[in-house]
Amino acid sequence: MSLSLGAPAQDAPAVADDGVWLECISCGGQFAPFDDIRFTCDDCDGLLEVRYADPPTWDDFSGEGVWRYSAGLPFEEGVSLPEGHTPLHEVPRLREDIGVNRLRVKHEGMNPTGSFKDRGMTVGVRVAEELGVDRLACASTGNTSAALAAYGARAGLETLVLLPAGKVAAGKVAQASLHDARILEVDGNFDACLDIVQNLANKGEVYLLNSLNPFRLEGQKTIGFEILEEFRDDYGRFPDRIVLPVGNAGNTAALFKAFRELVAAGAMDADEVPALTGVQAAGAAPMVEAIENGADEVRRWEEVETRATAIRIGNPVNAPKALPGIRETGGTAVAVDDEAITEAQRDLAREGVGVEPASAASVAGLRTLRGRGVVDADEDVVCLTTGHLLKDPDAAYEAGGDPEPVANSTSAVLEHIGAE
Ligand code: F0G
Repeated sequence: MSLSLGAPAQDAPAVADDGVWLECISCGGQFAPFDDIRFTCDDCDGLLEVRYADPPTWDDFSGEGVWRYSAGLPFEEGVSLPEGHTPLHEVPRLREDIGVNRLRVKHEGMNPTGSFKDRGMTVGVRVAEELGVDRLACASTGNTSAALAAYGARAGLETLVLLPAGKVAAGKVAQASLHDARILEVDGNFDACLDIVQNLANKGEVYLLNSLNPFRLEGQKTIGFEILEEFRDDYGRFPDRIVLPVGNAGNTAALFKAFRELVAAGAMDADEVPALTGVQAAGAAPMVEAIENGADEVRRWEEVETRATAIRIGNPVNAPKALPGIRETGGTAVAVDDEAITEAQRDLAREGVGVEPASAASVAGLRTLRGRGVVDADEDVVCLTTGHLLKDPDAAYEAGGDPEPVANSTSAVLEHIGAE
């Protein structure tokens, strides 16, 4: 495997287009980026990564949002709603309570469709336009389908989404529906939906925009650039650790790639790279299992269950990119149960930050690891919250207090609230 922290910049191979090419992380096979449609290596079926002859450094970035980082992306601009430039919240009470030196929350739920998926879609749909495809598709636990539907609509392209029946939060289905995606509800879990979409893509019926598509991860890489720039501007240093929820492990892979490119460009020292710390729900934790067992491969879990339906995933397809990311940055992975996730959702809500359950897993995981002494009290930590509270209104109602019925009069209300 050719992944490694701070791999030096490479000369562009003959297949490169403007200094950009695709490279297989398993066998090193190199491919032209936009001549043909491929999602995995022609030779060994390994995962592909987008490579650049000139990885960017800080001075190359200008503007705002995902396209601020175009020097590190395959294009200058794309279909934009716009996305990125999300808040890096301070959460002082939570910081005090968990007991770390600094704690900031990068709220990716503040993207246009309410999740980080928008960062991947703005780049992925730009590539789809370049390739001249007309039908976009994804399997989804919800957020990818919402983002694909919106960006596909904006680009005037047909969108098809496959969802696990009965397991997608209401807000996400509503978005896919209103943005006019064709929604297929499959009697199976997310992993089964992804198997089918991959087959459709291999038959040339659809252009796949799951995170198996390496261009999606390029957009998501900008989460890493943004966190590092903002943290450095505020404190003059980078965070020690970034804690994030893990499903398909796309973000874990994308953040690792951002760090590797910055190290390769001399924009960051290898010992400044934050420890990538992944959190999964206990009922869907194959990555945690692999990290705990020191395994090179992740075992597919056929049965998965969690209230955090966004990360109800048993076969994290980006594991070959993400496992080295966790290990080489000195990070770890941890599982948290649904009660801890709901409690963390309340913790964030008390700081004014509204997130969906999967997002709260990052905070629940940090609390667990701090409790075990894996995270030290002197660490500077950023937790990634990936989706907005309104994505899953049912989970929010369950986690929050109940409305109280009251009669239609001021005196009844006064009496009800215990006033004189
Ligand atoms: N958090 C949220 C809110 C998500 O929607 C997802 C993935 C993740 C975390 C996991 O991110 O895959 O990069 O490890 N949602 C996908 C979807 C699977 O279909 O919306 P990852």
